[in-house]
Amino acid sequence: KYNVAVVGASGAVGEELFRVLEETKFPIGNLLPLASANSVGMEIECQGKAFKIEELTETVFEGRDIDIAFFSAGGSISAQFARYAVEAGAVVIDNTSHFRMDPDVPLVVPEVNPEDIELWQDTGIIANPNCSTIQMVQLLKPLDDLYGIKRVDVSTYQAVSGAGKAGMEELVRQMQDFFSFKLDETEVKAFAHQIALNVIPHIDVPQENGYTKEEMKMVNETNKIMHTDFAVSATCVRVPVLRSHSESITITFREGVDVSVQEAREALENFENVKVIDDIEKNEYPMPIIATDTDETYVGRIRKDIFAENILHLWGVADQVRVGAATNAVRIAWKWIA
Ligand code: HSE
Repeated sequence: KYNVAVVGASGAVGEELFRVLEETKFPIGNLLPLASANSVGMEIECQGKAFKIEELTETVFEGRDIDIAFFSAGGSISAQFARYAVEAGAVVIDNTSHFRMDPDVPLVVPEVNPEDIELWQDTGIIANPNCSTIQMVQLLKPLDDLYGIKRVDVSTYQAVSGAGKAGMEELVRQMQDFFSFKLDETEVKAFAHQIALNVIPHIDVPQENGYTKEEMKMVNETNKIMHTDFAVSATCVRVPVLRSHSESITITFREGVDVSVQEAREALENFENVKVIDDIEKNEYPMPIIATDTDETYVGRIRKDIFAENILHLWGVADQVRVGAATNAVRIAWKWIA
């Protein structure tokens, strides 16, 4: 059995982590839920036992014999505290962006690059990629293996859960304000603009090149995970959906490759944790209401480009809190103990 700490225990991803650990019957010895002083004393239930949240401090890991410490409380918390967990002997599985592009830290999606987990020993840290990257590389990997990707253009439709509980609460509150005819004076805090009845083409901070940080995460993380160097261009958009991200993906394969929809569909169907739903005649395609609360990445609308034989279009959807965060982190932990 393994002693497990969860930093960010009261957040949206933290709460889901406990659920995924329980559902997958992760062999937990002791569980140490950690959060800021505000949440201390709150009870967490996992695998039929109750645990009280303790305060995250520099010394809290000492003498606790923690094997695995999940961090999902934001980059600045990981920057400040992850090293204390490592020093106390734990492997840190970090859900934030803080260590992702560190060349010594493996960035892992277990279906795509499980072999990289072994590199954890260099720093004691394994990074969990950004949610929008995780679900995209799960769809790119089988197609890259089959045809060789040259370029990817993606537009995302990202749920408010990407901004944590505060984002989800903001959408619900704004919809309530709409129904009470108060939307004009609704509070706007979690996003750059009102998200209810709106879409916002702006996630995370602008970069000098005109892209946002979220968009550049998709570019850089994709190539790190897949050990590739193809071009990726992303437009990341926040939509008033509660917790599953959707992505419209255009994949350009190498010149001269004639991509067959049937072959692509089979490759996707056979890939671990990917599910194809693809029959537009019957109104069947992936949507957030299908993906939410599941551990699959769904793909549909698979079609050849009408102008170029080496271009394929598809539509992918996955639960942001699970596939994009908690489930991926727990899958890493399962591989780590294997
Ligand atoms: N950056 C993502 C979002 C969350 O804002 O949707 C990913 O963990």
